[in-house]
Amino acid sequence: MDATYLSPRSWGWRALIALPLLGGCSGPQSTLQPAGVDAEQIARLFWWMSGFAILIWGVVIGCAVFVTYIKPRSHDSRVARWLILGGGVVVPPLVLGVLLAFGLSLLPSLSAPAEDGLQISVSGERWWRRVRYPTPSGGTVELANEVRLPVGERVGFRLTSPDVIHSFWIPSLGGKVDMIPGRTTRLSLEPTEVGVFRGACAEFCGTSHALMNFRVVVMEPDAFDTWLEQQASPARPPQGEVARRGQEAFLANGCGACHAIRGTSADGVLGPDLTHVGSRLSLAAGTLPTDAESFERWISHPDDIKPGVNMPAFDMLPAPQIHSIATYLSQLE
Ligand code: CUA
Repeated sequence: MDATYLSPRSWGWRALIALPLLGGCSGPQSTLQPAGVDAEQIARLFWWMSGFAILIWGVVIGCAVFVTYIKPRSHDSRVARWLILGGGVVVPPLVLGVLLAFGLSLLPSLSAPAEDGLQISVSGERWWRRVRYPTPSGGTVELANEVRLPVGERVGFRLTSPDVIHSFWIPSLGGKVDMIPGRTTRLSLEPTEVGVFRGACAEFCGTSHALMNFRVVVMEPDAFDTWLEQQASPARPPQGEVARRGQEAFLANGCGACHAIRGTSADGVLGPDLTHVGSRLSLAAGTLPTDAESFERWISHPDDIKPGVNMPAFDMLPAPQIHSIATYLSQLE
């Protein structure tokens, strides 16, 4: 064995280089910092598996060091045979069996659909999420790229896709489930902490697969009810002259053929519903903030920000018109 390979200096450097990677272990999109009942179970399984893996690695490396450095001479063939039989035949199935049983014991609760309580429908589009909530009055309200959940309640998700396979994954809250065309898959989650988390697509679905993130806001139940009520209300009228001209331009340029703004004549269903787009935490599925400048950028050149997007560029419109539309949309809180 190459002695420099084990030299303390080289290991120090490796540890130093690996240290920044630990930053990935926390944050709003970490399975190792669970904020939901299901994510806690998955994290527990991960730590048990890691513990076993480190233990086995330690034993194997210990044996290697023993025969290489401590007693580098020939060993009794009987001991060696038992070692191979024990370590190679008996121990692996035993360890894997225990882990399998543990993993399987978690499955029923992780895959059980929540029949009672809030049911949210999410459709994976190219490349954003269409989110539908039932309202207390018996209707449905459609949002995009933002999922809000009441803390401490088990919520059911019905997941679909019209064309390609996506995956619905909120690492901080639970496991991932594919969104498959022609099928409805189910997932249930129970958040335990108030906060803002991040969801992602975990199934390669095309050019902008990495650009369809969404925010997950876990709220106190009262705040959640107020939020849903507000989302179910029609859009507020334009505030000020620029926004008023923006609304006019939005409707005159045919934006309403793809987008709906409840309370106006815009009732398109192809693109995201924009009724309360200004209240969202991100624009274009986690790629931009929801200020007027970002709306301007998005309307002018959506393909630069999200390659392959279905929305056409509107850079042929005069700049003041784009500015007024952007102002109007950013006000739709
Ligand atoms: Cu949607 Cu990857």
